[in-house]
Amino acid sequence: MIITTGDRPLTEVAARAERLAERLGVPYAPRGNQSITKLFSRYEGEILVVLLEGTRLLRPGRPQLQFHPSMGFVRAKRVLKGEGDPMLEAAGMAPGDSVLDCTAGLGSDALLFAVRGGERSRVTALESSLPLYALLAEGMASYASGIGEVDAALRRINVVHSDHRSYLASLPGDSVDIVYFDPMFREPLEDSAAISPLRAYANSDSLAPGSVHEAVRVARKAVVLKEKRGSGEFSRLGFAEQLRPGAKTSYGVIRIDDRS
Ligand SMILES: C[S@@+](CC[C@H](N)C(=O)[O-])C[C@H]1O[C@@H](n2cnc3c(N)ncnc32)[C@H](O)[C@@H]1O
Repeated sequence: MIITTGDRPLTEVAARAERLAERLGVPYAPRGNQSITKLFSRYEGEILVVLLEGTRLLRPGRPQLQFHPSMGFVRAKRVLKGEGDPMLEAAGMAPGDSVLDCTAGLGSDALLFAVRGGERSRVTALESSLPLYALLAEGMASYASGIGEVDAALRRINVVHSDHRSYLASLPGDSVDIVYFDPMFREPLEDSAAISPLRAYANSDSLAPGSVHEAVRVARKAVVLKEKRGSGEFSRLGFAEQLRPGAKTSYGVIRIDDRS
């Protein structure tokens, strides 16, 4: 992967791109007058393009990906108005609770946790794919939604480039209120507009029982899994599926009180 900018970038945008490349330990390629096609012929892997209006992730022959909280924004506005959200209710999340989101993706769910959690909560979002992590970290730091509380919630999220298995293993027991998993579904929902473009860049490994075991050790309140409705993953991994009328997805929950 390399990081670059658009044509004739503002000095501050070029500096942001260069800083990001340095932090991630990936090459920064000054754009000059090179086309994206030329950059693809010169470098291996993805290209992250930092622009004033947002950041884009490109790979030859794949749809480009842009940071946007999409449905997360709509759901966040509802929660700010005091309405419920099925994921938050499944998790039993209260303001102030800490959350470890083990599968950050484009951060929509992490945003919801940060909105419900409020200023006193700590939300950490883990992403193991480096290009997705780079897109997410840039987006969380600079995206402007037009709603101050949403932007403040985005900035509060601690985005970490890590595989959740090793990260969970490094944490003490009973150290986070809620641990959340939303892995790439075993059988994709083909009409998922939010997830389909992510697929080319994502880690699509199945969730390991060992990771769930570690999550149960680390969580104080609940471990939550999102999967396709009726997925065998719920029983394979020991989650009680909570069916929702008309929904194509379900949340599975392990309540920590039931841990013994
Ligand atoms: C379905 S997406 C999550 C979508 C996310 N909940 C949202 O609201 O945007 C799954 C994400 O988890 C990441 N992932 C999969 N396995 C992982 C692992 N072992 N550690 C960290 N991230 C992982 C994938 O790369 C992908 O970006």
